[in-house]
Parts: sequence; C-alpha cells; structure tokens
Amino acid sequence: MQKENSSNLLIRNISELWTPEGLKAMAGPSMAQVRKIRDACIYIDKGHISWVGKESDLTASDSPLAQQALEGPTYDAQGRCCVPGFVDSHTHFVFAGWREDEFYQRAKGTAYMEIHKHGGGIQKSVNATREASLEELIHIGEGRLDTMLSLGITTVEGKSGYGLDIETEIRQLLAMRALSERREGPEIVPTFLGAHSIPPEFKGRPREFLAFLVEKALPRIKKDNLAHFVDIFCEEGVFGIEDSRWYLEKARAAGFALKVHADEVAPIGGTALAAELHATSADHLLKASDADISALAGSGTVACLLPLTAFNLQEPCANGRRFIDAGCAVALASDLNPGSCYSQSIPLIFALAVLNMGMTIEEALTALTLNGAAALDLSSHTGSLEPGKNADILLLNAPSPSHLAYHVGMNLVDTVFKRGTLVWPRSR
Ligand code: NIG
Ligand code: FE
Repeated sequence: MQKENSSNLLIRNISELWTPEGLKAMAGPSMAQVRKIRDACIYIDKGHISWVGKESDLTASDSPLAQQALEGPTYDAQGRCCVPGFVDSHTHFVFAGWREDEFYQRAKGTAYMEIHKHGGGIQKSVNATREASLEELIHIGEGRLDTMLSLGITTVEGKSGYGLDIETEIRQLLAMRALSERREGPEIVPTFLGAHSIPPEFKGRPREFLAFLVEKALPRIKKDNLAHFVDIFCEEGVFGIEDSRWYLEKARAAGFALKVHADEVAPIGGTALAAELHATSADHLLKASDADISALAGSGTVACLLPLTAFNLQEPCANGRRFIDAGCAVALASDLNPGSCYSQSIPLIFALAVLNMGMTIEEALTALTLNGAAALDLSSHTGSLEPGKNADILLLNAPSPSHLAYHVGMNLVDTVFKRGTLVWPRSR
C-alpha cells in the first residue's frame, strides 16, 4: 500500500542511503564522513525520522517500534537511492522584473560592478520590486518554490533587499511569511538585506542609510519577527568594512543572527569581519585570502560558497578544497537572484563542486544538506537523516547518490518528502 500525509510512514526498498550525521556543521575532514547504508529503510513518525537503517535489521527486530513500523503504512522506493532534502542557504528569490539585458552585456565583457555603478544592477530590480504588490510578490514566489521542490530543495533562505525602503523591504518579508503559511513547500528562512545597495535617496551617504535602517527597519522587523538574519553587501563601492562592522554590531545588539556577502568582487576584508563577529555564515568568498580562510575556520562561521554566481560572473569558483583543508565548514548554495545568478540548479552546483572546486561527492552532499542547515541555524532540526530530525527526504532516480555529480547538470530528484509528507510531485 502506498500512502502519503499519514502521521507515520515506512519508506522501504531504498537501494542506498547516504547522509551526513550530527546536529552541527561538519568542518574539515568530517565533511567527507557520510553514513552509507545499502538496502535501507526509514521510519517516519509525526513528521520526524524515528528510525533509519538496513531494512533486514528492522524486519528481524521484535521491538515495539519495528512492529509499529512494519504494521503501518508504507511507501515503496522501488530501488531508488535516498539523501536528505537539499538546503539552499543563500537566495534572493522574492523579486520582480528581469535583467536579461545586463546578462548579455556581461556576457560580452562588461563587469557586474560597472553596471551597478551606472544605476543598473540591483537598482533595476529595486525599481521593479517597488512597483510590485504583495499579491504579485507572493505569486512570483509561489512559482519559484515549485521549481525548488522539483529540484529537491526542502529548506530555503530568502533575502529582502530589492526595496531599499521600509515599505518594500517589509513587503518582501511579508511575502515570504505568507508563502510559509500558505502552502506545503520548502521551509523558508527570511533574511533582512536592506543593506544590499545604497538607494538614490541616500546617494554617497552609506552610513546615513545604514543608520536609517537601524532606526526605522530593524525594530519593526524584530517586533513582528519578520527575519532571523541580517545580511549586508560588504563590497568596494557599496558598504565598506567600517560601515559594515558598525551596522552588523547594531543588528546583533537588536537580536539578529548575522550573514555577510563578503569578498565577492574585491578583497576588502568582509570574510575576516564575518569571522570576527562570529556571523553564522560568510558568503561568496571568491577573493578571500589564506589568512581570511584560517580566521573563518577558527570562528565556526560557515563558509557559504556560491559556484553558480562565479560561473555567471565568469570568475573562477571558490576553491572548496582550500577551505575544507584549512578546517572550514563549507556550505554550497545557489544565490538565485535576478542579476548575478538567475539559476538555482542544484545539479550544476554538484557538478561544479566536484569538477571545479576540488570537492568530493560526499563533501558536496554535506555542504548542500547538513552544512546548509547550519548556515541557517537549523542543523539541530534538518539536514541529515537521523532519529529526531525532520523527515525531509529525497528519493533519486539513480541506484546510488554517487550519480549526483556524474549526471552533469541533470535533475535526478524523483520524490520529495517534507516533514514526512509527500510534497513532490504534486500529482502523486
Ligand atoms: O549575492 N552581490 C550582491 N547581491 C547579489 C546580487 C544581487 C543582484 O545582482 O541583484 C549576489 O550576488
Ligand atoms: Fe547573494
């Protein structure tokens, strides 16, 4: 019998299950320590994983849990392999409008920051998002969440940052809240990225703009619990190190956890700043130095690498191997956004990680699951297949998860369970 939405469910007949293990980010060599079980099954009880192991061990057991599991509803994986749901820990998925014209300019050699300087780039998406109603943003977000499910993303971070005014920033966060409440889909972790760019109203006055956000936005967002994280685009020509430190300290004092867009274009020290402030994650890191990387390793800040953006910007990807060998916990994420990366291809992230970033398939899996969850302060709840964790589970159309990078750029996801409920494909 196949059944979904039941409070308990036994997923049987799994060819091979791979999962990192633990309640925290895995750093350095432990990223490769993935548990592998052949002929596995998973027992789910009330949305949580209750048992994971060899199916023959469960059928041989006479424990009350085994009896309950074997007598209840089952789902036949039909020999598919299984991994935890993917966690995309860095996206800007709630935005209106397009920037395909800039993509073509960049493809011909114009630099991303050159477009930004001349009033295009982020500001173009700000103009379109300021025009969009809450209902429009929800509708746009809904479509993108469906795509995420089809790719096996069960948890996603979403940043504001296309308003740069109080009203639109809050509207983006409210759209994420509505999307979380409205439908079965990926769990959404909202981040306030009001400090994404300097709006025309504050041209040439970054500190005044940040002070405005501290005074007018942070208290309101905290009061209504609209964001868990505060993030900043710490970059040459946007927010420098001193402004970023000032702002992030204020955000931390207001009760927010921190993220930093760091050393993406120019090496100005955002990575070291994130480590100094014990931010939850430092993201991009394309220009981070060896000293920055050792500072990150010592701080416990997750290094969130975004290879699709590097690929889009025609820059070399961050060298994941260098980060792991230095003892960092590496997460991989998409950075889905309208400018530097209109892609959320998890399959391409796997391929780039293994072919261009020096990572093993096991490390890439840890980076997209447990370490992604840690980059969202969620690793005690999701990111691995272990008793007590949310039943966020993928079945893949392949005999082993080792196929994840090998099928370069191809989506292998067959079935997605979110907290024990079959959420993709919707028709099943
Ligand atoms: O992470 N660089 C800053 N933010 C985004 C790009 C946003 C945009 O271009 O719209 C990023 O790359
Ligand atoms: Fe980003």
